[in-house]
Amino acid sequence: MDRRRVLAGIVATPLAAAPLAASVAAAGPALAAAAPTAGGERRRSTLVIGHRGASGYRPEHTLASYELAARLGADFVEPDLVPTKDGVLVCRHEPEIGGTTNVADHPEFAGRKKTASLDGVATTGWFTEDFTLAELKTLRAKERLPEVRQENTLYDGLFEVPTFTEVLDLRARLSKELGREIGVYPETKHPTYFAKAGLPLEQRLVDTLNRYGLNRRDAAVFVQSFETTNLAQLRKLGLRTSVVQLLSAEGAPFDLVAAGDKRTYADLVTPAGLRAIAAYANAIGPDKLQVIPKAADGTLGRPTSLVADAHAAGLVLHPYTFRAENTFLPADYRRGTSANDFGRAIDEQVAYLKAGIDGLFTDQADIGVLARAVAAGQSIAATQPSPRSAT
Ligand code: G3P
Ligand code: CA
Repeated sequence: MDRRRVLAGIVATPLAAAPLAASVAAAGPALAAAAPTAGGERRRSTLVIGHRGASGYRPEHTLASYELAARLGADFVEPDLVPTKDGVLVCRHEPEIGGTTNVADHPEFAGRKKTASLDGVATTGWFTEDFTLAELKTLRAKERLPEVRQENTLYDGLFEVPTFTEVLDLRARLSKELGREIGVYPETKHPTYFAKAGLPLEQRLVDTLNRYGLNRRDAAVFVQSFETTNLAQLRKLGLRTSVVQLLSAEGAPFDLVAAGDKRTYADLVTPAGLRAIAAYANAIGPDKLQVIPKAADGTLGRPTSLVADAHAAGLVLHPYTFRAENTFLPADYRRGTSANDFGRAIDEQVAYLKAGIDGLFTDQADIGVLARAVAAGQSIAATQPSPRSAT
């Protein structure tokens, strides 16, 4: 999928079609072996990362979504970070907030609507950099994909746009209550765009992690970016946590595009490219199709060499994004007739886990936890947390 379309959110497919710091730990062995938490620390489990929280069950990037992900068993929750006009890091997938909040229903903000060039793509809407935190807090989140996730629209209008610090407070509280540490996996969104807007993310992120005592090599924190330059910059600013270079099946990091550097994501995933990434990152976050692409007929194909290549470079892999609805599954993993019904999502994830990935981003953390147990040959508890029982 074109990264630009991903930037705009999630693109459902019809049912019918379907720079640079300390290198980390040695390559992670495959399934159910040790995968790192942070800074080379290793744990006896593959990581389940709650993508935008539990966005399969609640409007994404809300405290309700993050809390549900943790209660469903996620090891980490994933806030995407963008800044407000007054420089506060808040959780949204992109600067434009018309798709995930009710800002269009606020006449007092009608004049803020604009068209901006977002990583070279003309984008029309309302942008976080034009709102103070106090103004953003008057808005309420809504479901991004109401036609796919109709049930989630039940929660439209209930939840605020959270700040990053609210997420850190939540994860501390839940870690105590649940008796296991809930990690945080923040992504710096559009670093070049926000630097140009005079609102760079990097120092703010390092300062916040310092303030919370989380800027440690052994903290349960992974900092991710689709760009490359800002990850190196974060190291220079003193970031000590694990770092993840996000990758895409198409296109190029926008920092490289903006600098006239011709390298693309395809160059970054070569063995030489991966060795260069390992100079500053601990992990890669590829599109899952870079690990196992689809065959020409839309069915799940055969694994590429990416797992072996990344492990050989000393990097672990946390591919994105595993979603249970038929529309997001390979043709041979769909079930029933509705594009929005759940298909054989556990089986799909087991296939990837058996290919040797070290963790996965998923919108439905409970399914990730189940798939991990199945793939490891572990027994499944009689009572599983479910989106309806967990809160
Ligand atoms: O960050 C990895 C995963 O979240 C994919 O990116 O933010 O476009 O959903 P995103
Ligand atoms: Ca993300």
